[in-house]
Formats: sequence, C-alpha cells, structure tokens
Amino acid sequence: MAQLQMTNTDTKYKIRRIESTDVTSVAKVHSQSFSRQIDSAGWVSCNFKAHPRIRIFVAQVDEEIVGYIQWIEKSGFRKEVVLELEQIAVLPAWRNQGVGSNLINFSLPLVKEELANRGAVLKHVLVTTRTNNEAQKIYRETLNASVVTTIPDLFSSAEVIMLSRNISERS
Ligand SMILES: CC(C)(COP(=O)(O)OP(=O)(O)OC[C@H]1O[C@@H](n2cnc3c(N)ncnc32)[C@H](O)[C@@H]1OP(=O)(O)O)[C@@H](O)C(=O)NCCC(=O)NCCS
Repeated sequence: MAQLQMTNTDTKYKIRRIESTDVTSVAKVHSQSFSRQIDSAGWVSCNFKAHPRIRIFVAQVDEEIVGYIQWIEKSGFRKEVVLELEQIAVLPAWRNQGVGSNLINFSLPLVKEELANRGAVLKHVLVTTRTNNEAQKIYRETLNASVVTTIPDLFSSAEVIMLSRNISERS
C-alpha cells in the first residue's frame, strides 16, 4: 500500500490522543462518514468520556481534524487484552492519501504503551465491517487481520468479523 511520506512527529500532520476540545471536530468527521448514524455529537461525546475503555486518536493537519480512530477494550480490563477497532473515519476530502492506514499504524503503539503501563499486553485485535466495505483491505494490510465469520443482516447489511491474532508477537 502506498504511504504518505510522513512521520508522527511532522508538525503539519500528526496522530495524537483526542482532547476535549476535539469532540466537535470528530463529530463532524463522524457525521460526514456514517450516513445511517445519528447524533454524532452525542456519540463522540459519550465515547470520549469512556476512556480508557474507549481510546480515541485523531489525525490533525494544521488546525484541522481530518480523521479519527476508536479502539475499545473488550470484556473487562484484562491482562491479555482483546481490542476492537470499533470505528475509523476520514473526511471525504482526505481519503485515499494514507490517513486511515496511518491512524491505525500510529495509534496502535500508543494503545500498547498505555496497556503496558498497567502491566497488560495486547492479545488480539477484532474489527467488524460491512462485507462490501473497502476498509477490509486496509485492515488486512495494516493489522494482518483476516475474516473469521460473516454475520448476515447485522446493521444495514452483512458484516464481517476480522481478527488479527497474537498481534503482540508479530510487532
Ligand atoms: C475507510 C477509511 C477510514 C479509509 O481511510 P483512508 O484515509 O482513505 O485510507 P488510506 O488512504 O490509508 O487507504 C485507502 C486507499 O488509499 C491508498 N493510499 C494510501 N496512501 C496513499 C497515498 N499517499 N496516495 C494515494 N493513495 C494512497 C491506499 O493504497 C488505499 O488504496 P487501496 O484500497 O487500493 O489499497 C475511509 O474511507 C472512510 O472514512 N470511510 C467511511 C467510514 C468507514 O467506512 N469506516 C470504516 C468502517 S468503521
């Protein structure tokens, strides 16, 4: 996959943890990315408050938030963590430029760091998406995730569950 020539320390483009002042901007990305989901501000606001069960990171270009990613710890705070990539979105104008892939690649080490601080390790990463969503390809390439099952008629259509097993042993 092609990648932007950038690092997470570039001043013009960075992936960082969400802050309270980002909630409105993240809600804008959400509303422009998920047409069937309502009350973007309410959704992002309550997820923001759920840290560390939910960890959100944003992609920022200059002063603009152009994308976000939302990771969730599944089934309690465990020593071996099953993490779900629950949501990722990039503003339409910024898609196909590597932002989504870099949100995954740069935020996952930050999550691992926070887990290590409490003596936990990442076991598996879970992600679900529509069977026809292009995002599947990004999940395969960035996480080495593969489809384990398909659930018919879950949200608006069939949804695949993808899993990246034993991810800490690979990175
Ligand atoms: C899914 C989504 C987050 C992907 O974000 P993105 O920033 O477009 O993702 P990337 O740019 O990293 O990768 C997308 C494509 O751009 C290509 N790309 C990556 N870097 C690139 C670059 N520097 N120049 C040109 N193309 C590039 C990738 O190769 C990829 O193409 P491919 O599918 O042919 O491999 C975005 O499409 C989106 O917000 N969709 C709506 C919400 C959604 O469906 N979210 C997923 C379910 S939760």
